[in-house]
Amino acid sequence: MLDDVARAVDALRAGDLVAFPTETVYGLGADAANARAVRRLFAVKGRPADHPVIVHVARAGQLDDLARDVPDAARLLADGFWPGPLTIVLRRNMERVTPDVTGGRDTVGLRVPDHPIALELLEAFGGGVAAPSANRFGRVSPTTAAHVRADLGDDVRVVLDGGPCRVGVESTIVDVTGAEPAILRVGGVSRAEVEATLGRNLVLRTGGESAAPGTLASHYAPSANVEIVDMSDVGVRAVDLLARGRNVGLLALAPVAAGLPEKLTVLDPPRDVEAFAQVLYARLRQADALHLDALLVVLPPVTDGLGAAVRDRVQRAAH
Ligand code: TXA
Ligand code: MG
Repeated sequence: MLDDVARAVDALRAGDLVAFPTETVYGLGADAANARAVRRLFAVKGRPADHPVIVHVARAGQLDDLARDVPDAARLLADGFWPGPLTIVLRRNMERVTPDVTGGRDTVGLRVPDHPIALELLEAFGGGVAAPSANRFGRVSPTTAAHVRADLGDDVRVVLDGGPCRVGVESTIVDVTGAEPAILRVGGVSRAEVEATLGRNLVLRTGGESAAPGTLASHYAPSANVEIVDMSDVGVRAVDLLARGRNVGLLALAPVAAGLPEKLTVLDPPRDVEAFAQVLYARLRQADALHLDALLVVLPPVTDGLGAAVRDRVQRAAH
């Protein structure tokens, strides 16, 4: 693995792309200071140029390298959650982060990921690594190295394999550049945890003006039609779709209701909401591998934290 990390560092220095594991999803990385590398990143990803990418660093001490006018709120969040699934949007240091990373915005999203291989890579590289999730634009985020290879093939020089991602959904994004801190995306850290750390309530700004890729319709979507249903309606809905010749699957927390149609493909049910988050993207990919026409999904209960993130991603996939 050490050699692979060294190869990845060389690739980043040469302006090439590398895929690496994080605790949330796999990232597709480029040197955040290299405009040419970042433009190639956007091209490979198929991502519109005005959609900003998160910059990953090894240590909270790099906040002041890559950002400027860092407010106390950012330091509290970095102390509380880094390394971890939280991205902090700050004012960009114009010299250390090329404007191509942020679609010309004067802000930058920073994150220290909680994965030993990611940290080793970032530490050895030294600078910021711009990295969106390592999937083509609009598709399901990768949570294994095999997902990355299936999506990106030869377009990525090095794929570091860190096994399946522990959290499974993307980081929570908090913007601290405004008068009041705002949540731009729910994810691996719960809103309640962020609010407790900041000692104040957060504005929820997950759509609208500064809306980003994660907030577009039909994001995180497999080819199968994702349909949200209540557990009590699964049987009736499945019978209806199966009668019309559709290939139908079900994703729901355990225990799954008894007496469902035999032809319904019940995907291995996660035991709790953390497990649901962990396997969600793999299950969406599995739905396609099984050539399902429809995937019925029963949302986990409305809890804060990963429950909110899972519900958010499924709702986007169902759009
Ligand atoms: O967990 C994650 O965050 C993963 C791993 C690889 O770190 N990354 C990820 O990146 O999900 P991506 O590109 O798929 O999503 C990045 C999100 C987008 O919604 C984008 O708009 C937002 O971060 N973002 C990045 N920089 C921003 C900025 N300066 N202002 C507002 N939003 C920003
Ligand atoms: Mg993504």
